[in-house]
Amino acid sequence: MSYSKNLSVIILAAGKSKRIKSEIPKALHSICYQPILYYILSSVNKINPKNVFVVVGHKSELIDKYVKSNFPDIETVYQKKQLGTAHAVLAVKECRKDLGEDILVLPGDCPLITSGSLKKLVDRKIKTSSAAVVLTTAASNPKGYGRIIKDRKGNILKIVEEADATYAEKKINEVNSSMYCFDKKILFGNIENIDSKNSQKEYYLTDIVEKMVENGNKVACLKISNSKEALGINDRIQLSEVEKVMQGTINEKMMQNGVTIKDPGSCYIGGSVKIGRDSVVEPFCFIKGKSIIGSNCVIGPFSQITDTEVGSGSKVNSSVIIDAVIGKNNNIGPYSYIRPDTVTGENVKIGAFCEVKKSKINSRSKVPHLSYVGDTEIGSGVNVGASSVTVNYDGYRKNKTIIEDNVFIGSDTMLIAPVRIGKGAVVAAGSVITDDVPSNCLAIERGSQKNIKDGAVKYRKKKEMKE
Ligand code: UD1
Ligand code: CA
Repeated sequence: MSYSKNLSVIILAAGKSKRIKSEIPKALHSICYQPILYYILSSVNKINPKNVFVVVGHKSELIDKYVKSNFPDIETVYQKKQLGTAHAVLAVKECRKDLGEDILVLPGDCPLITSGSLKKLVDRKIKTSSAAVVLTTAASNPKGYGRIIKDRKGNILKIVEEADATYAEKKINEVNSSMYCFDKKILFGNIENIDSKNSQKEYYLTDIVEKMVENGNKVACLKISNSKEALGINDRIQLSEVEKVMQGTINEKMMQNGVTIKDPGSCYIGGSVKIGRDSVVEPFCFIKGKSIIGSNCVIGPFSQITDTEVGSGSKVNSSVIIDAVIGKNNNIGPYSYIRPDTVTGENVKIGAFCEVKKSKINSRSKVPHLSYVGDTEIGSGVNVGASSVTVNYDGYRKNKTIIEDNVFIGSDTMLIAPVRIGKGAVVAAGSVITDDVPSNCLAIERGSQKNIKDGAVKYRKKKEMKE
């Protein structure tokens, strides 16, 4: 069902983020490599509302920037002073935006809420023709949340904030999630009557429930069974709790789709990452951003992969890969660093302690040990010997190295760029190559070796005489 014509969403994210103690607004703190706000806006978009407004205030420019570049269809509304959640909703009313008849209000600090629960909330409001439906849950630890006060028949009477609750009220474990679906006219008809006579001297949106009940408007609750969806983040401890839950959800989904995660508690995988069937993620891996891992891959322990494609059948072991495209059946690591704009073909090996930057390495080529490859094109079937370096930087600019198909680079070779090694050439170990090598040539650049007869014996004698 699409609500597009009638539903507007207001997300409150203007608060001063006092308890999180940060220069960054709370809604932009990250959970599984995405801002808290990302999850809320993504869930909201899934229910297809007419329009969405994010109320901003404290550090508004940062949220403005994030929303503009990541959710261009969503608008921000400025709340000049942060006088409370009711005052924040009023800021949207005062902007005279074109709002639908149903208004979904959400806090900007509850990223675990699913689109399914939001849909249920809106459906309940529509089906029961209520003035408001409050999303509630039974919290295992209700501390800090508003409590739901009901009459004997189970009808909601009001919401009492922790700071204003009596001892008996604090014992109630049904809490306010701060997510509501309102009838626009009744919401705006009552909101201006809310005062700030409470212990925090704030205009509480929660007070609207009591006002509506007093005016004879129908207010209902939707109590959800998964209380985690209503977890709010006020401080860094709650931030880490929610991160754990979110990571658990992401990892479970991966496993349900056929990925083995050996130790889910130690693997941090972003919500937009894709991993193919029968791939194995070993302990202590971090896979983030827009990474796509193919099927039958093994992501070995302590790997960090960001914004990277890894082709099916590839193995990555204890390596860091950023913004690269790794082909099928590659073998990377242990302990290599693959930097942005690296592209590899099939069956490529980048072995131990190698760094590769902005380079293309074609199929069946190997850079097995302790090498640096930067601004380089390597053809197919190439072997780069241990400790070889493409010397790409002359202190002023970066220069290119081209190594054509089937070249053999001996160990400890310096290729001083710009330089081209032609097809099938061999470069002898220990050479410093400054000029192009034509194809099929053997290039050698070394001082010639002298073997001095009995020289070692004489050397030792000389040393020992001195002592
Ligand atoms: C709020 C509810 C509480 C509920 C809890 C659920 C009120 C008074 N209390 O408490 O009943 O159990 O959420 O998580 O609503 N904000 C603004 N402008 C302001 C003040 C706040 O935009 O002037 C925003 C904040 O940025 C935040 C949201 O509103 O995203 C909720 O504010 P917060 O201070 O976190 O409220 P809680 O104390 O958690
Ligand atoms: Ca909160």
